[in-house]
Amino acid sequence: MKVLLLGSGGREYAMALKLKASATPLELVAAPGSDGLAELGTCLFMDVENPTVVAGWCAAHRPDLVIVGPEAPLVAGVADAVRALGIPVFGHNAATAQLEGSKAFAKAFMERHAIPCAASRTVMDLAEGEALIRSWPHGYPIVLKADGLAAGKGVVLAQDEAEALATFRAFLAGQFGEASKTVVFEEPLVGMELSLHVLVDVDADHAAYALLPACQDHKRIFEEDRGPNTGGMGAFGPIPFLRPEDVERMRRELVEPTLRGLQKDGLAARGVLFLGVMWTAAGPKLLEYNVRFGDPETQVLLQLLDEDLLSLLLEVARHRFDGRSLRTKPGCAITVVLAAEDYPEGAKKGVPITLEAPAVTLIHAGTRKQAGRWLTNGGRVLNLATVASDLAAARAAIAAALPAVHWPGMQVRRDIGLKALAHAQAGKTVQDPW
Ligand code: AMP
Ligand code: GLY
Repeated sequence: MKVLLLGSGGREYAMALKLKASATPLELVAAPGSDGLAELGTCLFMDVENPTVVAGWCAAHRPDLVIVGPEAPLVAGVADAVRALGIPVFGHNAATAQLEGSKAFAKAFMERHAIPCAASRTVMDLAEGEALIRSWPHGYPIVLKADGLAAGKGVVLAQDEAEALATFRAFLAGQFGEASKTVVFEEPLVGMELSLHVLVDVDADHAAYALLPACQDHKRIFEEDRGPNTGGMGAFGPIPFLRPEDVERMRRELVEPTLRGLQKDGLAARGVLFLGVMWTAAGPKLLEYNVRFGDPETQVLLQLLDEDLLSLLLEVARHRFDGRSLRTKPGCAITVVLAAEDYPEGAKKGVPITLEAPAVTLIHAGTRKQAGRWLTNGGRVLNLATVASDLAAARAAIAAALPAVHWPGMQVRRDIGLKALAHAQAGKTVQDPW
């Protein structure tokens, strides 16, 4: 079975590891891939955001399945172009990818389908936005979001009027090009953030889906959630104090209305939807949609998933998914990111990594190999991941494995899952203040 996997990060490496563990012999091609992925398959340098280029390769090489890791190729229409060749694709078409590609589109979708979310207004005009800030009715911070993809930097929580005005003016002046010329203003939501992934195979007369375990990312660079936001410094799942009725509530209030909304709007979906959820005092509210797997959430989910990943993704890609519930391992999985010096402002590259085989799963994210040695080559360099009987045991296994990896300037958060563990041990539920 020939599989083309688009992407190059820790998410794709974790997927490649799990695909290789499948019962079907696999010929894996990763594009653009990485030196890490080159140990699991063939890497191919290709502009993966160009539908013509990707479809051209697929027409010539006829892969049995194409898996799209990141959002940018989906928003650009890569899945549409490959699907038009009759090749199964795990990944949404461009119309559905607008749920991540345009925050204004996503908010309009949520409002049209009565999905609980932050009150918002979409603005494209300078005077209108300035007036809105001056008469802001929802309290601070004011959440300002660039409409389009902005490499994770397009959301600002402005603490006062001056910061809101400065951010808004910079956005409209093109800080993120066209992506920030439309701005979504949102009410600030307070609560506990979680990541809910849903496999979806939806079109006008078929709506099959399956929930993956809810997990939690840690976005700030420093322990105790201090410092700037990153792509994610570590994650765990399932969340120990989240009860089955809490998951049911998210299914009823967020997931099912989303699927009905897709059908009503004539949007097909064939891949994963990752709902960013804020569990507030008033219950779960939808922060955002992502149209791809989270990174590092995937590293957690694939530790937990007790399924043949290749067969599962093929079922969705071939439009044959029946929404069966997915087998998961008992216990809890965790992943901890090892990041480069200077991340997230920059990333010190080319630093040699001291690496002894750790007793947990090692995931390459931003590494390069030179003369048999691994070097840092990105912000998030490596992940350690494992599954254990519970969150405390999973944390302990990572702590025991950490001395196996080191380089000067390496950054790691040793508190992944710690706050949730304390919350659970205190007997609190998701409704208690976080
Ligand atoms: P997004 O790119 O939409 O995921 O936003 C990035 C981060 O900003 C989210 O993960 C949240 O932590 C935060 N955020 C987004 N929207 C809101 C909101 N309405 N209230 C509070 N925090 C938010
Ligand atoms: N870890 C958050 C994301 O992938 O968007």
